[in-house]
Amino acid sequence: MPQSPLRNTHCHPADAPSAAAAAIDTAAGALAETRAMPDLNDKSVLVTGGTGSFGKRFVRTILQRYRPRRLIIFSRDELKQYEMQQALGNDAHPSLRFFIGDVRDRQRLEMAMRDVDSVVHAAALKHVPVAEYNPSECIHTNVLGAENVVHAALRCGVRRVIALSTDKAASPVNLYGASKLAADKIFVAANNLVGSRDTRFSVVRYGNVVGSRGSVIPFFQKLNREKAASLPLTDPRMTRFWITLQQGVDFVLSCLQTARGGEIFVPKIPSMRMTDLAACLAPDVPVRVVGIRPGEKLHEVLITAEEARTAVELPDRYVIRPAFKFWGREREGDEDEAPEGPSVPEDFVYSSDRNDDWLDGRRLHAMLEEFEAAS
Ligand SMILES: NC(=O)c1ccc[n+]([C@@H]2O[C@H](COP(=O)([O-])OP(=O)(O)OC[C@H]3O[C@@H](n4cnc5c(N)ncnc54)[C@H](OP(=O)(O)O)[C@@H]3O)[C@@H](O)[C@H]2O)c1
Repeated sequence: MPQSPLRNTHCHPADAPSAAAAAIDTAAGALAETRAMPDLNDKSVLVTGGTGSFGKRFVRTILQRYRPRRLIIFSRDELKQYEMQQALGNDAHPSLRFFIGDVRDRQRLEMAMRDVDSVVHAAALKHVPVAEYNPSECIHTNVLGAENVVHAALRCGVRRVIALSTDKAASPVNLYGASKLAADKIFVAANNLVGSRDTRFSVVRYGNVVGSRGSVIPFFQKLNREKAASLPLTDPRMTRFWITLQQGVDFVLSCLQTARGGEIFVPKIPSMRMTDLAACLAPDVPVRVVGIRPGEKLHEVLITAEEARTAVELPDRYVIRPAFKFWGREREGDEDEAPEGPSVPEDFVYSSDRNDDWLDGRRLHAMLEEFEAAS
């Protein structure tokens, strides 16, 4: 393995302005306030994986902005549910329902989805090495779980269902990505099964979430706090897409409003070089290049060249339209148009190294401050 010490020379946190001064000026963030949002007042909403990083922020956001009839958190571990209940205040939110269940259990999902209007499917096994070591566990949760969500939603007449996907699903090189790609396909094709029902299945795909559990940012921050001798960096050329949790939640909400069924929605989000990330998070710790790990890419992709053939561009997002059309079909109450916007250029690929929008230290720190303030 190559081992080369590189010293981080710029982007000291002291150079970064406070969150108040630094706007999180990404296309996805900037347009958040102008987007059409769904009216979830008096509606029943279910989130699978409601105790995870995304789920917790999603639930807080819904409780702040709406008065839902029911807001159902569906996940397996009672301790995480108990802690979330405590954190939100036991009796403060009568709409909350904590539902213990496994997405592998279709009957349980059907029970939880009775009279539910919208579902956001966030439950997943998402750690690349864990999926490699436990392949069938990953497939059961991410693939069969997605299929169960689809079937339960159809049985229960849920109107809008959005699944969370990841850049790792685009041209996947590891099982986690492959399982999420399979889930994307299950969701897109589910629109074939709806018949005359007003049920729509769509996907939201985005990149790394700043600060999410078990990710590189908390890891680098920990090494910095502990004054580690060096910071392991897989490859100095590596780039990644970044989004904040709140941008992810707002983006999903906007897609609940505009989804017509079968789209993969991709927000326009910035990229950052991993060397710059390391320099920002641990400016005084030299990096040690340890070589790319199995199942890792140098650059992540949110839209492949093949998917680009059906992708259109909107101010804050790309929309990959389904290659097999569901939109031509008449459905009761379905008067909206397919997303308007120019097709992307023929040679378009949305990858983290070919992005127009690059994060600098100022914007990364603004994103981090937003994450810490809300945690
Ligand atoms: N974090 C990122 O950087 C990122 C980036 C792009 C996309 N995504 C996607 O966003 C989604 C949410 O990610 P996250 O960061 O919030 O993940 P997370 O923090 O690991 O949370 C996962 C949630 O899923 C639940 N869960 C796991 N297995 C389950 C099962 N079999 N049945 C029911 N619930 C189950 C977990 O609770 P229990 O363990 O208690 O069941 C937990 O609530 C995932 O689909 C992920 O692929 C994440």
